[in-house]
Amino acid sequence: AAVCAASVYIVRRRMQSSGKWARVIEILRVLEEDCATPIGKLRQVADAMTVEMHAGLASEGGSKLKMLISYVDNLPSGEEHGFFYALDLGGTNFRVMRVLLGGKQGRVVKQEAKEVSIPPHLMTSGSDELFNFIAEALANFVATEGEDFHLPEGRQRELGFTFSFPVKQTSLSSGTLIKWTKGFSIEDTVGQDVVGALVKAMERVGLDMNVTALVNDTVGTLAGGRYYNPDVVAAVILGTGTNAAYVERAHAIPKWHGLLPKSGEMVINMEWGNFRSSHLPLTEYDHLLDFDSLNPGEQILEKIISGMTPNMSAMHSDTSPDLKVVGSKLKDILEVPTTSLKMRKVVVSLCDIIACRGARLSAAGIYGILKKLGRDAPKDGETQKSVIAMDGGLFEHYTQFSECMESSLKELLGDEASDSVEVIHSNDGSGVGAALLAASHSQYLDDSQT
Ligand code: GLC
Repeated sequence: AAVCAASVYIVRRRMQSSGKWARVIEILRVLEEDCATPIGKLRQVADAMTVEMHAGLASEGGSKLKMLISYVDNLPSGEEHGFFYALDLGGTNFRVMRVLLGGKQGRVVKQEAKEVSIPPHLMTSGSDELFNFIAEALANFVATEGEDFHLPEGRQRELGFTFSFPVKQTSLSSGTLIKWTKGFSIEDTVGQDVVGALVKAMERVGLDMNVTALVNDTVGTLAGGRYYNPDVVAAVILGTGTNAAYVERAHAIPKWHGLLPKSGEMVINMEWGNFRSSHLPLTEYDHLLDFDSLNPGEQILEKIISGMTPNMSAMHSDTSPDLKVVGSKLKDILEVPTTSLKMRKVVVSLCDIIACRGARLSAAGIYGILKKLGRDAPKDGETQKSVIAMDGGLFEHYTQFSECMESSLKELLGDEASDSVEVIHSNDGSGVGAALLAASHSQYLDDSQT
């Protein structure tokens, strides 16, 4: 949203009204200057990120970075088996999914999913309305369960719930919503246990299912990534929102007063979208966008990086000589009936400036995590492999964005370290990850699940 809206602001407020070409070029030059992210600035952002990570881990409310404790202290081993459901709510669509996990030999044996778009009015109305809608869609999906997904006699179906908003977890399977992000705003859910809200709605539609795990999409993506690759240490979402989760040493979390997990580790949901720092290159357009948003003053990094970008990505990748796609998008989005080729070229430059700023800042965030983990450089001559599992529309579908992010990360790491860090796409990781976490925390864990 941020990237697209910035373009919209610029074109609408300035270009059309100024009328003078020289003025347009000057606006573009100033914007480019204001959005600049030279390597020194990225290093400052990464350092500020690690400082805030420490502060957020030290105490509740110690930082703008919430560094939320996920209660996931064990990531999938590959041995998970059985039949589980997942529900993934985090943007304008939500997905329901069932997976059959085959244990060591089988991995994911079978998987079925359905995507449902959320009617926009439900994103800002009442809690019951939203959860009823979700529970109904889930019940409809359960009704299509085939014989391949066999539930052993006397067992309740189990669900991993990916809920991609900031939640203060009280256990692996419960947690209260801290605030909405990404265009959702439903007052009566804030402060409520979201699993409780889902369970009540499931009861209302007569669906009998146990919510075994409640996870953020970053945590699900981390779990899904680790299932296939033991070197995955962090997960990043670049899409409608942006966020990261990573595996922290439990003794490095002063605010954790629970028992030290056997693994000695704990997954942290950073909620990095809420990061802000004087080092961030914010422009007047970012301030306007923030002011007009549902959550002014919040999610500043998210507003710079993330985006609902199909239009922008299409304009940015327009290779036709007369920039036809740009012309038609401007007509549809900005209602500018005709544009000169010169103007369309300016719009492509805008896309480039804004996308590259977001991509480079996300690389700085990843570099900040690697620094916090001491994985930004070889240790005593030894190279530790670090894999980052990524997902989200920007990463998956916006080529210029993902390429710029990856090359910026390499630039930050330098030749020596960049070979030891790999970025992988964890496709659908968050849904499968939630199912995997439901499996490893199943209420029937002691029984044989075969
Ligand atoms: C927003 C949410 C966060 C989520 C991210 C990506 O930042 O607050 O929980 O992980 O979007 O979906």
